[in-house]
Amino acid sequence: WILMATGRTPTNIAVIKYWGKRDEALILPVNDSISVTLDPDHLSATTTVAVSPTFDRDRMWLNGKEIPLSGDRFQSCLREIRKLADDVEDEKKGIRIQKDDWQKLHVHIASYNNFPTAAGLASSAAGLACFVFTLAKLMNVKEDCGKLSSIARQGSGSACRSMYGGFVKWTMGKDASGSDSIAVQLASESHWNDLVIIIAVVSSKQKETSSTTGMRDSVETSPLLQHRAQTVVPGRILQMEEAIRNRDFASFARLTCADSNQFHAAAYTFDAGPNSVLIAPNRKSAGLLLQRLLFCFPPPAHNELTSYVIGDKSI
Ligand code: DP6
Repeated sequence: WILMATGRTPTNIAVIKYWGKRDEALILPVNDSISVTLDPDHLSATTTVAVSPTFDRDRMWLNGKEIPLSGDRFQSCLREIRKLADDVEDEKKGIRIQKDDWQKLHVHIASYNNFPTAAGLASSAAGLACFVFTLAKLMNVKEDCGKLSSIARQGSGSACRSMYGGFVKWTMGKDASGSDSIAVQLASESHWNDLVIIIAVVSSKQKETSSTTGMRDSVETSPLLQHRAQTVVPGRILQMEEAIRNRDFASFARLTCADSNQFHAAAYTFDAGPNSVLIAPNRKSAGLLLQRLLFCFPPPAHNELTSYVIGDKSI
């Protein structure tokens, strides 16, 4: 016999961002974060999980290609869900699985993303949330979405927020075990129906630096990150919750942009006039900065920006 379950989970876009871990193994963040879960028709992961006594090991396929299931993150989610698994009975198929059988039974997992993977569009959030949710369905786990979010978190931090639709907060929690580091829904998807999120995909290439590595570097090297987590984000979270509650677009937009901009802080200096002079640490960062400027001030407005000159070459 073979027993299967299929689930679909959308990705989420953070408006107050999670960046930095205080515990790398359990994936515990240095600050709370808030996101909007997208409509499942657009950016989502679809996962089918199957169990059969004929399977000799756990296996996984991503977009049709087998990937090793050896990574700690998938393994820890699988282990946690197995612990919560319950009896399953399917009379029609004559299947009876007892709680303890799940420790010995192996699963096959096939997951598809309907959008580019690892291109900075939170594919891991949708993928890991879907993985946990679908496994929980197959194994008849009775725990609520809060508990499931704490398991998805151990797969990829941002995944915990995809356990709910609408506006979601990931509370960083205080407990060293991570038990209170869970997602909670702030408002359902119907609360602010008019809000539209447009994602302009300018590149679907895999990012050069993963979020995991990027945030580790920031924690180790950036004094700004500590300041952000301890001083800036707590107030911003409260203001964002209020903006969402009141459907106050002006405040929502201001806070979202301010939070995003904090990750792209560049050095700058102004002379007496209105024209800004930006200073980047190297040509690569300068190129990225320029891309952003052109994106924010598209032609013809960007023609009004003076030349982009670094050293003796223009970029
Ligand atoms: C910029 O959740 O992908 O999207 O926990 O290491 O898997 P890991 O990182 P991940 O990081 C997401 C970072 C972000 C901000 C956010 O979603 O809050």
